[in-house]
Amino acid sequence: MKKIIITIDGWSSCGKSTLAKQLARHLHYVYIDSGAMYRAITLYFLRNHVDWTNGAAVDEAMTHIRLEFMTNHKTGNTEVYLNGENVEYVIRDLVIAEAVSEVAAVKAVRDFAVARQQEMGKSKGIVMDGRDIGTVVFPNAELKIFMTADEAVRVQRRYRELYEKNPNITLEEVKQNLAKRDYIDSHRAISPLRQADDAIVLNNSHLTMKEQLQIAEDWVKERL
Ligand code: CDP
Repeated sequence: MKKIIITIDGWSSCGKSTLAKQLARHLHYVYIDSGAMYRAITLYFLRNHVDWTNGAAVDEAMTHIRLEFMTNHKTGNTEVYLNGENVEYVIRDLVIAEAVSEVAAVKAVRDFAVARQQEMGKSKGIVMDGRDIGTVVFPNAELKIFMTADEAVRVQRRYRELYEKNPNITLEEVKQNLAKRDYIDSHRAISPLRQADDAIVLNNSHLTMKEQLQIAEDWVKERL
């Protein structure tokens, strides 16, 4: 059976990873969360006090970072490892979200992440979500989805996720973080978030998970 590359780009917290996981499970494809790579690099920088505005410090730090994805056989999901440590849970923290967009705007960081993402896509059969996957990482992908959802819906979704880990979090903090990241991500000089010319828009504000999967599956069928 022919295997394709599926890219899902879009704004923060619009459900890209949920759809990517659904599709990967259905198609028996590999799911790669490219945002997890930027989050893991941010975690390394914060833990090791790396100043990401200092080019030499970043270059040096990148030589010590090893990122891998491994499947959690209980959940079936791929999880990210930083230098052998499973950091899938800790990188979801708001502390990481507060710094990640600045880190992800650094050229050496993007070069490192994009090279690994392209390597992982070589044998196709992959669903990858992020900001520049359809535009820069896999410009020839067979199916490109650009996801979006109303801002209030996105804030609510992320608030619910973060509240489970930290009941002290406020809706306003989450709202500010999403707005800040979306601004930086779409205005940075290198690989800004934008809809690829050949991407299809999926607005899931009023869709159930089942409905969004059905729509995306129809698009996949057309391409197979
Ligand atoms: O899950 P959420 O939509 O909140 O974000 P994420 O996918 O975990 O990505 C975290 C951050 O990494 C984004 O806000 C971007 O700054 C950066 N990122 C990027 O620059 N390029 C990508 N391909 C993926 C993420």
